Amino acid sequence: MIKINQKFDKPLGHKTECLILPCADEKKLRGTVQTMDAALNGAITAAFEKKRFTGERNQTLLLNSTGLMKADNLLLVGVGKAKEVTPEKIRQASGIAAKVAEKSNFKSIAVFLNECCFDQIVKGKGKLYGELSEAVAEGAGLALYHFDAYKSADEKDGPPSRVTHLALIPAAKTRQTVVGKSIARAEKIISAVHSARDLISHPSNTVTPTFLAAHAKKMARKNKITCKVLGKVEMEKLGMGALLGVSRGSHEPPALIVLEYYGTSKKKSPTVIIGKGITFDTGGISLKPSANMDEMKMDMSGAAATLATLQAVSSLRIPANIIGIVPAAENMPGGSAIKPGDILQSMSGKTIEVLNTDAEGRLVLADALTYAQRYKPKEVIDLATLTGAVIAALGHQAAAVIGNNASMIARLREASDATGERVWELPLWEEFDKAVKSDIADFKNIAAPGVGAGTIMGAAFLKPFAGDQPWTHIDIAGTAWGEEKPYTTKGASGYGVRLLVRYLEQRGR
Ligand code: BES
Ligand code: ZN
Ligand code: ZN
Repeated sequence: MIKINQKFDKPLGHKTECLILPCADEKKLRGTVQTMDAALNGAITAAFEKKRFTGERNQTLLLNSTGLMKADNLLLVGVGKAKEVTPEKIRQASGIAAKVAEKSNFKSIAVFLNECCFDQIVKGKGKLYGELSEAVAEGAGLALYHFDAYKSADEKDGPPSRVTHLALIPAAKTRQTVVGKSIARAEKIISAVHSARDLISHPSNTVTPTFLAAHAKKMARKNKITCKVLGKVEMEKLGMGALLGVSRGSHEPPALIVLEYYGTSKKKSPTVIIGKGITFDTGGISLKPSANMDEMKMDMSGAAATLATLQAVSSLRIPANIIGIVPAAENMPGGSAIKPGDILQSMSGKTIEVLNTDAEGRLVLADALTYAQRYKPKEVIDLATLTGAVIAALGHQAAAVIGNNASMIARLREASDATGERVWELPLWEEFDKAVKSDIADFKNIAAPGVGAGTIMGAAFLKPFAGDQPWTHIDIAGTAWGEEKPYTTKGASGYGVRLLVRYLEQRGR
């Protein structure tokens, strides 16, 4: 992870390989942009005039300062209209600029917290200035993630060039306290998101349920959280037939990981977060096709986000009680695997007819949701890469949220707007309930063909196990993994950590 610090300096006086300057889309240059333009003999004006740079969002222009200012190079990055700047736009611009700087082989970079993009909308408002500077740090830190645990250094060229340092330059001395706080927060959040991305990126022959449990224990020890892990024997005693059923086709033993963080009086009922932890999903006997099956190592992204959220929540000392539960198993088609038509008895006592062994996520979640009830939670959130159908509905741009409580979903929407981790609600109408009723058991794990609404069906199945308290299911199959975005790299995004941290912070207030 990059090191982030701040240093108050005059715009022309900061020595760095690359000074990044956020620029608004404005007709007339002003403030720091004007100062730098003058120092560079009108190079910025010329770029605007020739339309090589317009300040449009996420556009960049690298200028060599040829000794006219202390910084060797100036990297302009557009943020769009100054009055419409938001933390998410800044996060993206910062991510894009950081990646350009890294591709240009700079090791150490700085961002000038430019007042004409910031103070326009934050005049005197320390909190907003804080949010925007946090977005700068977060965007760059998240964008510069690399997963090279399995790469040997290139014999000829050596390791690739990496940015290792980021300095934030406040526009005024009086902003230093708030910028300092922003950096401290951003570092904790970046570190948590990166740990989620690491867990997801490691292949399934490393990240087994046992590995996830060991990781959780280590993380808990470092962060003063309690962690217990239930094994097969304990699960049998509790009657967790659904979770045990899924793990039966694999030689890897299952694990139920439980993390407890108490940030306020233990008497206050907690928020429970449950993360799907299928460390590899072959589909089981309802085997998946081989194309892209490798990506199913990401089927524990809900688990990774849950563990990372607890890490962040503890390092940020959020004043709330939060329980994390991860049902972890590997879905394999071994000789003892469950078969289509098999009936499992869940911990709740309800029976489930397994008509498709590839709809395994909802089975492990059913037992985790029942287990959650022993905490008498005030609310439950589950995070799961549950259905391919969510990609048909929302692409890779938003997770689906489905639940039984409108105000909870509204608060998740607020957290989503603030963090840029988008959610979109799908309905859980009563009519869907009967589609998961089985002819010979209480429920079946898939609806009859023709019912459609695959993502909603997942939630409709979970609903009878979720309890009466507010509950929201978040289907992250589309957002957990994908192509590169302004501040994520190809592969694991770590989606959900920032959304949940923000949600829990709002909740604590
Ligand atoms: N893990 C998959 C869902 C998934 C698909 C995650 C694509 C990430 C990318 C899940 O266990 C699954 O296989 N779901 C089935 C459900 C169906 C059998 C009702 C699906 O989406 O096809
Ligand atoms: Zn599956
Ligand atoms: Zn799955």
